[in-house]
Formats: sequence, C-alpha cells, structure tokens
Amino acid sequence: MRFFVDTADVTELEKLVVTGMVDGVTTNPSLIAKSGRNILEVTKEIADVVPGPVSAEVTATDYDTMIEEGQKLAKIADNIAVKVPLTVDGLRTCKTLSSQGTMVNVTLCFSAAQALLAAKAGATFISPFVGRLDDMGMDGMELIESIKDIYDAYPQYSTEILVASIRTPRHVERAAEMGADVGTLPPRVLWDMYQHPLTSKGLDDFLSDWGRTGQSIL
Ligand code: E4P
Repeated sequence: MRFFVDTADVTELEKLVVTGMVDGVTTNPSLIAKSGRNILEVTKEIADVVPGPVSAEVTATDYDTMIEEGQKLAKIADNIAVKVPLTVDGLRTCKTLSSQGTMVNVTLCFSAAQALLAAKAGATFISPFVGRLDDMGMDGMELIESIKDIYDAYPQYSTEILVASIRTPRHVERAAEMGADVGTLPPRVLWDMYQHPLTSKGLDDFLSDWGRTGQSIL
C-alpha cells in the first residue's frame, strides 16, 4: 500500500519524507489556504521533494476553465496529478486530461456509483472520503469495500483507490486489509502509526536493563 501525505506544509512534509514512508502528496484548496502559500509555488516545491504523484486541485467548476487550470497545474512538474471534483464537468475534464497523458485524481467521492463513473472517465485515482462519511454517522470504510468489489470485477479499469479523509491509524489498517492501493494520510496519522504503548514500555525496559550491564556496542 502506498502512502501519500495530505498536506501543503513543505516543512512538515520534509520531516516525513526522510522516514522513507512517503510515496506521494495530496493537496486541496483548503490545505493551500492553510499553508498561506501561492498554489503554483508551493506545488512546485512539493513536487521537487517527493518523486511520486502530487495532487493539485483545480478550482474552476466549468469544463473549459477546468481544462485550462488543469493543463497549467500539470505543467508544474512531471509528477503532478490534476485533481478534479466528481461532477459532470469534472469527469469530462478527467477524460480529456487522461487522454492527453495527464494523471487525474477524482476527488469528493462519496458513493460507489460515483467511483464507477470516475473509472469510466479514465481516472488515475479515485478519492473516496471515509472520514467525512464517518462524521455523518456512516461507516466510510464500507464505501472502500464496495468500490474495491466493483473495480475488481472490471479489471479493464486501471483506476486506483486512494482512500482520503483518513482520520486514524485504524482507517489505514482497514484500508490495507481491503487491499486499497493508496491512502492519503494527514501528517499526524502517519506519526501516530509508529506509536504503541507496549513498544515504548518495552524499549524503556530494554534500555534500563542494558544500562545495568555497563556494556557498550560501539
Ligand atoms: C485528500 O485528497 C482530501 O482532500 C482530504 O483527504 C480531505 O480530508 P478531510 O476530510 O480531513 O478534509
């Protein structure tokens, strides 16, 4: 399973890249706003730091302007995936940009029917938002299961499932159990995945016992 980081904060991203766990990045207009940076500049910096796909989202809602914005974003670097919303115009844009050889990430997916449309439109990635479904009292991970079943039934579609709106390590575990291709993790969730109280306690005990031996490996 590949891990993307859901952030437009380059400093935070660089700390995670050195762990060797980062395969790509996703951004969205809210994350760009939070960064306080210019979208073209910060996206270029991110694309330089991470070799894998970097999603940059269009902000227009009509086909012609989405194409124009998407082509401009795609020119930032070879590893840009243009992110488009799951709308009629968004999927038209997806089809055109995909046919031009541009990676496209279709975002704001909340149903399996929408995911099927995105696959037919040639999306490179479909981004179902699990956390936002959980927030509504639903089980977001059931959507991943359903999309996985549909995509597995039609191997001619190459669209990858990119689990988005992840809130906890448990979301990541469940996505991996289902065989999702990618998860996009807020930095905090990736750091949290390293943590277990028994790991910390076990290490404390080992180091304390080791200290009593008076030995040194080096
Ligand atoms: C990623 O592509 C999405 O924009 C992101 O995961 C949304 O997460 P949120 O629901 O926490 O804003």
